[in-house]
Amino acid sequence: MNPASTPTQVPYHLAIIMDGNGRWAKSRGLPRLAGHHAGTENLRRILRSCVKHGIKILTLYAFSTENWGRPADEVRGLMGILEQVIERELNELHAEGVRIRHIGRMNGIAPRLQRKITHAVEMTRNNDTLILNVALNYGGRQEIIDAVRRLLADGVKPEALDDALFGQYLYTDGLPDPDLIVRTSGEMRVSNFLIWQGAYAEYYATPTYWPDFNEDELQKALDHYASRERRFGLVAEQTIAARSK
Ligand code: IPE
Ligand code: IPE
Ligand code: MG
Repeated sequence: MNPASTPTQVPYHLAIIMDGNGRWAKSRGLPRLAGHHAGTENLRRILRSCVKHGIKILTLYAFSTENWGRPADEVRGLMGILEQVIERELNELHAEGVRIRHIGRMNGIAPRLQRKITHAVEMTRNNDTLILNVALNYGGRQEIIDAVRRLLADGVKPEALDDALFGQYLYTDGLPDPDLIVRTSGEMRVSNFLIWQGAYAEYYATPTYWPDFNEDELQKALDHYASRERRFGLVAEQTIAARSK
């Protein structure tokens, strides 16, 4: 087998900015919602592939706090699609041992969808094959503001605050930072995604639109990750020494 297709180092936590649904649809002369439908069809194969690769946490950017500003029809359609996905996939995900988590503000999501999310989280809470972390009504800045509000409400003393304590106030409390952040559709921006947690993440961008991002595309992203040298601010010799410890 080609060594490039057998990465020795697989990200423990993979995060994906699933972008390009609208352009995928447009390029086919379809309405944008058809692109969002196609995007959700893609979830299953990428999730399976992640399990196969041994990835333990998959964070998916499904809807940002800024996406509320899109035309009302698209927002309504997207919310309906998200509800359908939970209904359609939940039993199978549960049977496969997937634990579902939500990151983002619950407040602002329609009550019926909130109940579905809470149910999915409760039902799968003891599963441990893979954590599927769904970023819905998520914004990195809003997450930091929410954390600061709770820190202040808890009366945390300024001198007691450090990275670890701050991390406990984020939506991702208890989860390690993402190792690799993939963005589909060619954009080279973060769009308010995991801005605290991504401090030392590796980034990978592909021009492929999310609905076309298949197992081979995932493999390419993983190969790319395996070829990177993560230095965390140190020099190469130090990171090599740390790895062999
Ligand atoms: C990503 O696809 C899905 C969401 C943001 C909900 P887009 O809808 O952003 O697709 P483009 O970027 O317009 O092609
Ligand atoms: C980021 O994509 C949000 C999601 C993928 C859910 P956007 O399409 O909203 O980002 P911008 O507008 O191109 O920055
Ligand atoms: Mg987009």
